[in-house]
Amino acid sequence: MRPLKITDNIWWVGILDPQLRVFDVVMKAEHGTTYNSYLIKGEEKTALIEANKGRFSGEFIARVSEVVDPAEIDYIILNHMEPDHSGALADLMEAAPQAQLFFTRAGKSFAENVSNKLLDDANVIADGDTLDLGGRTLEFMVEPYLHWPDTMFTYLREDNILFSCDFLGAHYCDDRLFDDLLGNYDYAFQYYFTAIMRPFKSHVRRALERIDSLDVKMVCTSHGPIIRTKVAERLESYRQWSLPLEKGEKKTLAVLYVSAYGNTERMGLEIAEGAKAAGVETEIYDLGAVDMERLLNEVEKADGIAIGSCTINGDALPQTWELLSHLIHINTKGMVGGAFGSFAWSGEASLLLTERLKGLKFKVPEKPVRARLTPTPEDLANCRAFGEALAKAL
Ligand code: FEO
Repeated sequence: MRPLKITDNIWWVGILDPQLRVFDVVMKAEHGTTYNSYLIKGEEKTALIEANKGRFSGEFIARVSEVVDPAEIDYIILNHMEPDHSGALADLMEAAPQAQLFFTRAGKSFAENVSNKLLDDANVIADGDTLDLGGRTLEFMVEPYLHWPDTMFTYLREDNILFSCDFLGAHYCDDRLFDDLLGNYDYAFQYYFTAIMRPFKSHVRRALERIDSLDVKMVCTSHGPIIRTKVAERLESYRQWSLPLEKGEKKTLAVLYVSAYGNTERMGLEIAEGAKAAGVETEIYDLGAVDMERLLNEVEKADGIAIGSCTINGDALPQTWELLSHLIHINTKGMVGGAFGSFAWSGEASLLLTERLKGLKFKVPEKPVRARLTPTPEDLANCRAFGEALAKAL
């Protein structure tokens, strides 16, 4: 693909990666993705925003070269140093040896580790710093945790264009690039928010407030479509999705289970009864019957979880692992957790789940509660006591 002219003096010089199916090892990318970089020519200076992914450095530098000799680039703006934004930095520095680098203070050490170069003469920007390209002014907006501690946005004042890094991005590859020229990518946009931005809701809200004070006409993201027709709509989606989910007035224990023959389910119901008897609210979910987005919402609203699985082939069932792997998307710090489950002969599931809860920094006040096949009255009494103990720890 050729560089794409966005305005008279801005070009998209990024990479299309339509074959990608998994991003960052864990994120699905059914429509591939793009690694967007942008070249801005002022009357006096030329700036390149985002250094792109290392695997594509040859193609990336060749694309830049179609617009400008890289040796003539004055500034390289590094909004973020995760390797999908910066892996090509070392090659780029060789191609553009005169270019000055700009990044946040947190970004500097990442940049040195990515490029394996000391960057003493690079420019650590502060929030609100500006860079004059001649008739075009870049303003730097330090916005940590969107998505790493180092992230910043760059705002092109005269054109009202926000270079938003991961913020408002999507893993969606379409060479038409502009949001009004391609199909509906709402699913990819929301999935991206859930996977990347949801853990940082308060930072998202802070950034939105700041963007509200600007008159943004176009958002040049680092992944997926350039937003030029639905700026307000996309911002509103982020506003809704980043609202904090209020915890109820009463403490709540979410009981989440997957059960092959109903025994683990029976245990979960008794745990809930024990918790209720101790004065807390309970919510009960069969992990096989509820979608992940809703489960995450319910866990976020709760104060603690009891998670249960029967043991099959020495392990907990995949539904429990899937839920626990998604808990990185919400803040579970300080929550109480406990595991339970029935088994036939070995019973590892609840032990393994307990260790994972500890790894996720849940407070785990109780040993797992287990029952061999059909829970006996004594097993069920143990479950009630377990629920009561978790409730008291909330
Ligand atoms: Fe697109 Fe945080 O990487």
